Amino acid sequence: MDNLRVLILAAGKSTRMKSKYAKALHRAGGRALIEHSVAAAAAFSSDIFVVVGHSADQVKAAVPEVKFVEQKEQLGTGHAVLAARESFSGFSGDVLVMPGDVPLVTPRTLEAFMKFHRDGGFQASVLTADIENPSGYGRIVRRNSGEVESIVEHRDASPEVLKIHEINSGIYIFNAAALFESLSKLRNDNAQKEYYLTDVIQILVNQKYKIGAFKAESAEEVLGINTRQELAAVDRILRRRKCESLMTEGVTIIDPSSTFIDSEVQVGPDSIIYPSVQLYGRSVIGEDVTIHSFSRISNSRIASRCTLLEGCVVVDSTVSEDVSIGPYSHVRLGTSLGAKVKVGNFVEIKKSSLGEGSKSQHLAYLGDATIGQKVNIGAGVITCNYDGFKKHPTVVEDGAFVGTDSQLIAPVRIGKDAYVAAGSSITEDVPPESLAIARGRQIVKDGWVKQRKKK
Ligand code: UD1
Ligand code: CA
Repeated sequence: MDNLRVLILAAGKSTRMKSKYAKALHRAGGRALIEHSVAAAAAFSSDIFVVVGHSADQVKAAVPEVKFVEQKEQLGTGHAVLAARESFSGFSGDVLVMPGDVPLVTPRTLEAFMKFHRDGGFQASVLTADIENPSGYGRIVRRNSGEVESIVEHRDASPEVLKIHEINSGIYIFNAAALFESLSKLRNDNAQKEYYLTDVIQILVNQKYKIGAFKAESAEEVLGINTRQELAAVDRILRRRKCESLMTEGVTIIDPSSTFIDSEVQVGPDSIIYPSVQLYGRSVIGEDVTIHSFSRISNSRIASRCTLLEGCVVVDSTVSEDVSIGPYSHVRLGTSLGAKVKVGNFVEIKKSSLGEGSKSQHLAYLGDATIGQKVNIGAGVITCNYDGFKKHPTVVEDGAFVGTDSQLIAPVRIGKDAYVAAGSSITEDVPPESLAIARGRQIVKDGWVKQRKKK
């Protein structure tokens, strides 16, 4: 949009959350609150400034794509806007001011708000909403004629004003010149001894400027976060929104209320997600994937037609088509599973690759291993990859068969189509197409029990 800048206020601490971290860094729907505000603003402006103060470096790192101004001391929302005065000198367009703790507002509402402001020829407009429990919010005080007269903070409000249900969302559009001129007139003679941005409205009204108030269609969009309870409530809404949009795109979610899916996760159509599944970060799930209960997938790619049985954890890994995992498998740290791989009960795989069609069906640990195609890893096979100082690699070439309960003591290589007999401790490379047996020979003592009884 032309002649528009966005200013997001995110310098505050999170006093009411009893946290040592800046509020803007607390997460809902898998993203820091500041990321939500920036994403909503970025939908129609690329000229975004964020006011930082508490944990400034971490807030900057969360949204590196925007510009920053510093508010060294946090003396109120009006004072925060004032911190941007120099960066805005010479700018004469509209400023969209947003708090960094109102993450549910949609680009659609912001756009309608902007249209309202410009069509109405206002010097300042405030986004409001009627909410059932307005406790804690600033109230919109209107004249009998309906025009906005002022915004009164909850703590400064009379019993009469406390009855008002129309609240201030903290989102405004100001003409830049009018805004910065009235900011210099702010005083802090209020309950919190702060310079309130909300007082700018009354200052502008006194100067006979035209002020608009635009009611958001859904009160939910303007919910602010000041407490951990409100953080949980917003997180729940974001999760619900995500499940709804995935279902619209053709994903079956059996119990949306117990399903946790971060905003950026993608899931292909005809995939089925059972209750109590968690999909986090930048995970990408293909089509026709079935994910059973109590599985967690973080920052991983799962290709089409895979099945994850109950209780699997897949982190930072890549899984090709038609793979079956679980129940109760742990796949992590840059593992890649080729097409049609089968990983079964209680198998842990770390920093390893398994080629197409390979199987590890029961109770194995594969770490730092490169495993070829059509390899069979027997039950209970362990790669002994750590000697107390260093991690060592294991290579198992195509078609090899590693018998049950064997230990592959790395570094070691099992050649193509070779066999390792069950119960072997393999310390040396096994050449291709050979059989390695590395275990004590069985001794059978005939009649031993009878002789013992005689004694
Ligand atoms: C503010 C509004 C209130 C509105 C509510 C909506 C004021 C005085 N009150 O109250 O009318 O209903 O938001 O959610 O504006 N911040 C700074 N620097 C500061 C102080 C705050 O950057 O010195 C930032 C905070 O990090 C936060 C935002 O401004 O992101 C709002 O501050 P907060 O203290 O949460 O204001 P509320 O009490 O919620
Ligand atoms: Ca707030």
